[in-house]
Amino acid sequence: VTYLCVPIFVRDLEQARRDVALATEAGAEMIELRVDDFDDDQAIKRLIDGAGVPCILTCRSQAQGGRSPRPGNVRLASLLAQCPQYIDIELDWNSQAKTPTQPILSHHDFSGRPEKLYNILLEMDKLSVGVNKVVWKARTIRDNLEAFEILQNRNKPTIALCMGEAGVISRILAKKFGAFLTFASLNDESATAPGQVSIDEMKNLYRWDAMSKKTKVYGVIGHPIGHSLSPHIQNAAFAELNHDGIYLPLLVDPPYESFKAFMETFVPFPGLDLSGLSVTIPHKENAARYLKEKGAQIEDLAERIGAVNTIIIDRTGSEPILRGLNTDYAAILDSITDRLAIDRTRLGRLRVAVLGAGGTGRTAVAALAHYGADVSIYNRTREKAEALASEFDGNTGQVLSLPMEELAKSDCDVFINTTSVGMYPKSDQNAWGAKLPKLTPNTVVFDMVYNPVKTRFLAEAEPSGAKTITGVETFVRQAAAQFQAWTNKPAPIELMRRVIENRMSDQKN
Ligand code: ATR
Repeated sequence: VTYLCVPIFVRDLEQARRDVALATEAGAEMIELRVDDFDDDQAIKRLIDGAGVPCILTCRSQAQGGRSPRPGNVRLASLLAQCPQYIDIELDWNSQAKTPTQPILSHHDFSGRPEKLYNILLEMDKLSVGVNKVVWKARTIRDNLEAFEILQNRNKPTIALCMGEAGVISRILAKKFGAFLTFASLNDESATAPGQVSIDEMKNLYRWDAMSKKTKVYGVIGHPIGHSLSPHIQNAAFAELNHDGIYLPLLVDPPYESFKAFMETFVPFPGLDLSGLSVTIPHKENAARYLKEKGAQIEDLAERIGAVNTIIIDRTGSEPILRGLNTDYAAILDSITDRLAIDRTRLGRLRVAVLGAGGTGRTAVAALAHYGADVSIYNRTREKAEALASEFDGNTGQVLSLPMEELAKSDCDVFINTTSVGMYPKSDQNAWGAKLPKLTPNTVVFDMVYNPVKTRFLAEAEPSGAKTITGVETFVRQAAAQFQAWTNKPAPIELMRRVIENRMSDQKN
């Protein structure tokens, strides 16, 4: 088993008691009492005796990133006298010590990977008892793989964790790789190391209880990625359908080389079972390029758009087989056809105004033009609209670019905002500009921005009776299509929608 351990900084007995109770209620299976600047040994003893779960006593020196001004082991004898189950001692352990307490031999590096990582581990292995612990700051997401290798090759119970945002997955997947423990903070504010996930997230978002050695791994590649909603909806969907999978945020640096290095190391990594990927900003073009270079299959329209947001990793054969899809464009089309109760062949009769000429605008333009719609592109930077129009014009539907000022004169059937204008926290901004075009109850007004759900773009269209579509609609649809592509099961779409809407109202509070 891998313990889910919550570290608690002890400032006074009452506070620590309260925190221990909160942690065990939340599901902590072990408590680390950080006594760096707490000297009351009797109080420590009472905390250990009252915890109800095994405890680690830790007095971390400043040299190893803690608060204790004294060198690591000065308090060893007095701490051992309190009989904790484990003691984190950083330095040498006197193997003659007659005590039931197990030592956790630890080494921390807050700046990066320790140069002599393997020598340190060899040194730790010399002592046959206790637990080895190495923690370092991940330089990139690939450092996590080394932590997993250390766990796979362990000779003793081992903790191998990477700190920082790039190291988050080592904390979550510790259980899959059989670590002795992982740390989770009591709440978002109480993290004792950078990148620590809260116990609530560990249990309720990252499916701690359901995780095993065999659990398949999925994730969303992006930069930044910390606030992505995808882990919330995909993990909820996995849990709902009992799919043995876990979905993680994967922080990969923007350059193509970083994307490629991620794919080349993570996809084949033994025991990781990487089975599916979502791809978001800024990597959708990188994904298309990578799959093309590898000769992997890419869905036609995804290739034409030049953007892949979904990678299927089929592991049923001897070698993993990659396939690229774009579930964004189908989500855009289906949101419109469902709202109008038509099928895709009738899209050709529509005149559509697309606001914006970035990645999302491009996806909308390519998909709509492919089905024969006449598309007018309005963009702040006219040149970008022109380039996009000339690329897709004449493929089937007519595509042209118009000056932003002329939007108010448009008589299109559908208006889609693909710009970021009006997105939280700048929710008072208005993608329409000063004046709205003429809208009727037959007009469709569609915003790709999903936070807030009702943007100013949609709110201002409402009095006309226009049919509005929120960004949540497309977000949920593209996610549901990904879920289906990976699991071959119908997605619990209503649940997915609820998860998003709940997250959104959380953010406002
Ligand atoms: P995405 O991949 O989400 O589409 P993007 O490629 O950065 O993101 O594109 C953002 C789009 O929003 C662009 O069309 C951009 O207009 P420019 O091409 O002129 O940059 C548009 N956009 C962003 N902020 C804007 C603003 N304040 N006013 C008008 N348009 C804006």
